[in-house]
Amino acid sequence: MAEQHKPLVIAIDGPAASGKSTLAELLAKKLGFFYFDTGVMYRAATLAALRAFQSVEEEEAVTRLTESTGIDVQPASIEDGRVMDVLLNGEDVTWQIRSSEVEQHVSKVSAYPGVRKALTEQQRQIGLRGNMVMAGRDIGTVVFPDARIKIYLDASAEERARRRYCELEARGVEMSYERILTSIIRRDRIDSTRKHAPLKAAADALVINTDGKTIEEVLEESLSFIHQQLQNQG
Ligand code: CDP
Repeated sequence: MAEQHKPLVIAIDGPAASGKSTLAELLAKKLGFFYFDTGVMYRAATLAALRAFQSVEEEEAVTRLTESTGIDVQPASIEDGRVMDVLLNGEDVTWQIRSSEVEQHVSKVSAYPGVRKALTEQQRQIGLRGNMVMAGRDIGTVVFPDARIKIYLDASAEERARRRYCELEARGVEMSYERILTSIIRRDRIDSTRKHAPLKAAADALVINTDGKTIEEVLEESLSFIHQQLQNQG
């Protein structure tokens, strides 16, 4: 029997506001791939827990809730700046998951092993829908360790806070630079020191430090790496 064709996954990992989403979206457009930002799933699980329990402290309860909640992504159905729809039991929560309350609690929820297990499984299923650029923290290390192409983006916390500040400002959300910087540093610390699937570059990833680089430069560097990898791998 002929071997089933496996979709191609391009894994883009990195810390908060490192430019993963922007790069992943541009690459997906350029290559005609789907774009999937896995962070939205952890954000949706956090939103569900906050709605149900007004807190995310009870690991067992949050895990059970995540296991029984339908979290999915679909191509954008509305042109309001979104790159995809995020659905929580069918409800469109694309913008709700960007609230500062979710932002504040998401790293705690994503450190729960049971939550990661449930969402990793769903991410692998979504990865079968077609060729995909997948952005996250553990795509190249845990979700798709055999992805053919892995890129890890990094930048200083100050540069990342500046980018997030501009992003929020453009959306009309007011938040001070200092507050954003503190939140980014705190989230990075939790994400990189957690026991399960911590944030780190895969050994075979191309690491790009994006400090002082334009998105065009990062895109160029990534595309030449992708072409080179695909050629080498045949
Ligand atoms: O956009 P930003 O980089 O600020 O965050 P995000 O990608 O939306 O991810 C939000 C949070 O989800 C991260 O701080 C991680 O705690 C968690 N996350 C994760 O643990 N694993 C992933 N593959 C993606 C996100």
